[in-house]
Amino acid sequence: MHSRRALLYMPGDDWKKITKSVTLGVDSICMDMEDGVAVNKKAEARAVIAKALQEVNFGKSEKLARINSIGSGWEKEDIETVLPFHPDGIVIPKLEELKQIQWASEVIEAAELKHGWPMNSIRILVVVETAKGILNLKEIASHPRLDAIIFGGEDFAASVGATRTKEAIELLYAREAVVTACAAFGLQAIDIVAIDFKDLEALRAESEFGARLGFSGKQIIHPAQVETVQSAFTPNDEAIAYARRVVETFEASQKEGRGAYALDGKMIDMPLVKSAQKVLERAKAAGKA
Ligand code: COA
Ligand code: MG
Repeated sequence: MHSRRALLYMPGDDWKKITKSVTLGVDSICMDMEDGVAVNKKAEARAVIAKALQEVNFGKSEKLARINSIGSGWEKEDIETVLPFHPDGIVIPKLEELKQIQWASEVIEAAELKHGWPMNSIRILVVVETAKGILNLKEIASHPRLDAIIFGGEDFAASVGATRTKEAIELLYAREAVVTACAAFGLQAIDIVAIDFKDLEALRAESEFGARLGFSGKQIIHPAQVETVQSAFTPNDEAIAYARRVVETFEASQKEGRGAYALDGKMIDMPLVKSAQKVLERAKAAGKA
């Protein structure tokens, strides 16, 4: 699965921001047709994204297109305009029910067949950001074309009538619900946007907290956020070295017939080894180990 530590949005009608995004070394680039685009610019966004998919070299960055929500009336033309140019994935916002993913997956499958592309080569990522979406996470997370669930904090707060705070305590239940559903189905979990893009210290704290909750990445909206977020979702050298020691010493202690043992004065047993293995997997996904 493609690494998605930072997923950068830009309005799909903004050619300059799209061409800028490919110079940033960001894991995922998401060209938006939804809320980042004015109602009278929806058609232009479709056309600009289609052109970018044909003409812009995205390098190692993933190229995603976010369509309007299913039921908006725009979704069919959005997806049909961009699919012929093979984006790496389609992002569906305000996702609430499995059947909405099934609809998109059928449209994508028809394009894969028509163009002779490998089956499932175009992935789906969904944004869950309403109360109903959170309640239906279990069925949503089960779809085989799904790679990731993105949690939309601002829309979710509006959906339940919560007031957003800097600490984001009002989002904690929903964030943990997303992380849990993703872990159960082997998906990536992608955390909230920090809209105050000038405050990099707050961004670092929020990113590190998200990583501690179990998120694998975070949505961003500005080039200044790339580095802080990508490094917060990459295990540091110290964490990698410790994880390696845990795995190695665990193997040795198993051979000696001990399930639990002490390392640097702390007990190590199976759950800690599993955590260490997750750290090594994330380091590997980020090209670090
Ligand atoms: N992607 C790529 N490039 C971006 C960018 C983005 N999301 N946001 C800003 N840039 C570029 C600007 O074009 C500018 O480029 P330049 O230096 O080559 O001229 C540079 O980064 C600095 O931009 P800045 O002047 O600080 O920001 P701005 O006032 O132009 O834009 C926002 C601020 C918030 C409007 C803009 O960052 C944005 O559109 N973000 C994405 C919004 C979005 O997609 N929302 C929907 C999903 S939540
Ligand atoms: Mg949203």
